[in-house]
Amino acid sequence: MARAPSRASPRKGKGSKKRAVLVLAAGVGKRMRSALPKVLHPLHGRPVLSYVLDLARPLGDVFVVTGAQAGRVREILPKGVIPVLQKNQLGTGHAVMAAAPQLKRYRSVLVLSGDSPLIRESTLRMLLEEHKRVGAVSTLLSARLENPSGYGRLVRNGDGSLRGIVEEADAAPDERALQEVNGGTYCFSSAGLLECLPRLRRENKQKEYYLTDAVSWLLKERRTVHVAQTPDWTEVLGVNTRVDLAVAHEVLRRRKVHALMEQGVTLLDPTSAYVAPSVEVGADTVLEPNVFLSGSTRVGRRCRIGTGAHVENCVLADDVSIKPYSVAEGAAVGRGASVGPFARLRPGTSIGANAKVGNFVETKKASLGAGSKANHLAYLGDARIGKKVNIGAGTITCNYDGVRKHETVLGDGVFVGSDAQFVAPVRVGRGAYVAAGSIITEDVPPHALAVARGRQENKAGWVKKRKRKRAKRK
Ligand code: UD1
Ligand code: CA
Repeated sequence: MARAPSRASPRKGKGSKKRAVLVLAAGVGKRMRSALPKVLHPLHGRPVLSYVLDLARPLGDVFVVTGAQAGRVREILPKGVIPVLQKNQLGTGHAVMAAAPQLKRYRSVLVLSGDSPLIRESTLRMLLEEHKRVGAVSTLLSARLENPSGYGRLVRNGDGSLRGIVEEADAAPDERALQEVNGGTYCFSSAGLLECLPRLRRENKQKEYYLTDAVSWLLKERRTVHVAQTPDWTEVLGVNTRVDLAVAHEVLRRRKVHALMEQGVTLLDPTSAYVAPSVEVGADTVLEPNVFLSGSTRVGRRCRIGTGAHVENCVLADDVSIKPYSVAEGAAVGRGASVGPFARLRPGTSIGANAKVGNFVETKKASLGAGSKANHLAYLGDARIGKKVNIGAGTITCNYDGVRKHETVLGDGVFVGSDAQFVAPVRVGRGAYVAAGSIITEDVPPHALAVARGRQENKAGWVKKRKRKRAKRK
């Protein structure tokens, strides 16, 4: 993905800038019970916070409030995103206070929670539009939850207008029964927000400065506060616990497989296909049940990915077949090629067009030219294999001398019989044959036959003679 141009570089000139996006990410996340800060937990292979940053970056200058293990959080911030340190974590309101000096220069502030990665871009744009249309001082995102526990509840007046936000810890039983929750996503006029901050107090169960109290204060002051509700509860999910993390995985997985089906991909069992959001799959490809596709994987058109296949950071061209229970990582597979069942492609593997890699074949830093075949039981490591090469069953490249790795090079059209071993470094010229059972330690010239094995001797009648000898002894 192309990186959005950095918008956070200091601009010269007078007047306030348009919008700051403030991402709150300083919390420890106690409920995760982890040595890793909550916002760094991986979600389909990327930190939770990275999803929020993806949303934030097109919408303004991005500031991230860091605190718990600030150094580690800073490491994942893309260029142009500005970290702000909150030394002690005294609540979401306190986190905003830490950034207050920076916010003065902006007209509006969009506040996002670093632990809420499931909001859609379209929903944020809707929030910003409504904020502008209504002319609100603050607009916040809400959703109705079947089980609202853990979230701040929106308390409304008899006429439906908002009265305030009550945190779960401070809520009376009737307030806890309310199902409309605060999504933790707000747009504020910068001046309005800065006016609220000095009003926040820690007089609550958690002894924290709540950002939600800023909203309640604005309401008390009869300022315009608007609520933008999303009909999709999954968008407001905060990743506070491991259970929330699992739900977030599932929500993103489901969104992804639905999107793929809309793009023309067939899923034989959409409930069991694990496809990371980052993966691309071409039309008319079929995913069998229980596939796992992750990382930067790109799958072409008309492919078939067999059940139990694990494909990570791979590029598969069109018409590729990955048969069941194959594991491929960091491999490129050419058009029409077939891999598996039970094959293992390790990083640096490149399989040519229409080539075949069969069961129990392992490859590593190996290229197999177009139309070549390694159908059964082989280890091909640090190997450069030409076009139309036949690799017999049981072939092994002996690439490691205990210290260094060495290369095996097989020219185009080479035929390797079963159970051959190549003690690398070694080269076999184009069109050469290697006899079954050979241990090749020296280069083979083109079109030669290499036989490198002990000669067979048949001792006629040996078994019968032996039996007779034994019978006499008894
Ligand atoms: C918060 C809201 C709650 C809302 C929910 C939505 C408050 C008081 N409550 O609750 O109404 O329903 O989010 O997900 O705002 N953080 C800091 N510094 C701090 C404390 C928190 O940066 O001192 C960050 C956290 O890292 C996190 C975000 O702010 O990313 C939200 O904090 P969290 O403790 O998860 O708030 P909730 O209890 O979920
Ligand atoms: Ca939270």
